[in-house]
Amino acid sequence: MYNSGRIIAGLIIFAAIAASPFYFNMGKVSARPELKLDTPVIQGLTEKQCVESKEYMRANHMQLLNEWRDAVVREGKSAYVSSNGKKYNMSLQNTCMGCHSNKTEFCDRCHKYVSVKPYCWGCHIAPKEKKS
Ligand code: HEC
Ligand code: HEC
Ligand code: HEC
Repeated sequence: MYNSGRIIAGLIIFAAIAASPFYFNMGKVSARPELKLDTPVIQGLTEKQCVESKEYMRANHMQLLNEWRDAVVREGKSAYVSSNGKKYNMSLQNTCMGCHSNKTEFCDRCHKYVSVKPYCWGCHIAPKEKKS
């Protein structure tokens, strides 16, 4: 005769093993990558601020970069006045990457996490970084 207890125990173990990849991946989905802000320029700032608020930058930096490019390339402008009245030169390389000179640990880390690959660096020069 079959031992039904053993079969059921076997099925439970099988189900647990089959499902294990899902348990191992739980939590990874919500773990935000750690973004490094400790570049020389940012460390030298009195107020640790971006061009606009962190929330705004997080959601809108791609549109902001598009606006900057259009303003520079189409309208020949170069000065951006932020919502708190500070002036910035509209430049990806000199302004954004001047502060965020750790592209791999900042921009790339977040982009990898959300699976976007901006195509900018074929033309724009990425900051030189020490390979660690
Ligand atoms: C003057 C230095 C400086 C410049 C210029 C600058 N940033 Fe920032 N950025 C910062 C700092 C400091 C923070 C963190 C702000 C905070 O914690 O409130 C930050 C935050 C951010 C964030 C949000 C990160 C997060 O935690 O979600 C993004 C995205 C970002 N910057 C992109 C850019 C882009 C794109 C540009 C150019 C358009 C730029 N930054 C220009 C200093 C700068
Ligand atoms: C906190 C996470 C985060 C950080 C940090 C971050 N980005 Fe992004 N970035 C995103 C997300 C999310 C998108 C995609 C948005 C979308 O598809 O609407 C994006 C899209 C972009 C795009 C548009 C790409 C495209 O193909 O449309 C550019 C350009 C860009 N980021 C530049 C930068 C630069 C430069 C930095 C570093 C100074 C940076 N980002 C830092 C999250 C981030
Ligand atoms: C095919 C080459 C090419 C690609 C790809 C490219 N750009 Fe540009 N970009 C240029 C050129 C050329 C200029 C004009 C430079 C000037 O007038 O100083 C420019 C100017 C800009 C400017 C204003 C001036 C400056 O120094 O930053 C911004 C901002 C900009 N691009 C953002 C972007 C972003 C963001 C991406 C990626 C989503 C991107 N570009 C991809 C060629 C390119």
